[in-house]
Amino acid sequence: MTHTLNDGQQLPAIGFGTYPLTGEEGIAAITSAIEVGYRLIDTAVNYENEREVGEAIRRSGVPREELVVCSKLPGRHHGYDDAVASVRGSLERLGLDRLDLHLIHWPNPSQGRYAEAWRALVDLQREGLVTSIGVSNFTEAHLRRVIDETGVTPAVNQIELHPYFPQEEMRRVDAGLGILTESWSPLGKRQAPFTEPPVVRAAERLGVTPGQVVLRWQVQIGALPIPKSATPSRQRENLDVLGFELTDAEVAAITSLGRPDGRLFGGDPESHEEM
Ligand SMILES: NC(=O)c1ccc[n+]([C@@H]2O[C@H](COP(=O)([O-])OP(=O)(O)OC[C@H]3O[C@@H](n4cnc5c(N)ncnc54)[C@H](OP(=O)(O)O)[C@@H]3O)[C@@H](O)[C@H]2O)c1
Repeated sequence: MTHTLNDGQQLPAIGFGTYPLTGEEGIAAITSAIEVGYRLIDTAVNYENEREVGEAIRRSGVPREELVVCSKLPGRHHGYDDAVASVRGSLERLGLDRLDLHLIHWPNPSQGRYAEAWRALVDLQREGLVTSIGVSNFTEAHLRRVIDETGVTPAVNQIELHPYFPQEEMRRVDAGLGILTESWSPLGKRQAPFTEPPVVRAAERLGVTPGQVVLRWQVQIGALPIPKSATPSRQRENLDVLGFELTDAEVAAITSLGRPDGRLFGGDPESHEEM
């Protein structure tokens, strides 16, 4: 199963999140993820592990063209020239000559320069340094502004999305604009909803783990989850969710776990500033 982006590039159904994997242990975990079958690797300048991702790609021996490497532009690099230099820096640290996907990490509306950053990504895509360009943590207003100013619609919007924060409205907005929603913290991280009755019941019916139920829910709502695990057995488990199916009622019951305080990270939910 793959997703076809609005620019034609194909992405796998599940990606691998790499925060906070760093150092030799991080390289080992990311290499393992590629070896067990992940083909979309999610990093960011702010994770300070682009070198580790590049090294893991080389150690895995998997051909470069089989991998989708995604990084992200930090808020301090939103100026046009800074953004261009930032992407070149990411490529240098990764040891690659092209990024498959690059996202504006946060809109940081108080700085007011995300549209400038987007213009830089549009130009870098035209130059061929980045195959697909997208955003992260954008609201409908942020999306409409960058589309209005450049005529180029982001391919991806990567947002916090898990059963306690199912983002029904943003998923509708993304889908309406032809943008693929990627889910960060797809398992719900620390507050993983693994003991919630709808998750447990589906796991028992299907003979899978609660984590697999949550990731299958992600797939069935049309999102692309990027779970992180440093543990090879869990990496395998998280990838193995395409051989079973939740019923519509199970999907709805998991979506209804959403709650007003379901967002994982504190702060003002409307601020959309880098954390
Ligand atoms: N764009 C953004 O602003 C943004 C923000 C946050 C994160 N992200 C991206 O999203 C990725 C994933 O998010 P996340 O790391 O916050 O949360 P997550 O993937 O929902 O959860 C990761 C946690 O769950 C554990 N885990 C993984 N698989 C499990 C399983 N099958 N059963 C039980 N526990 C399991 C992991 O532990 P072990 O490692 O010990 O297995 C880890 O502690 C990040 O790595 C990063 O790439 C992006």
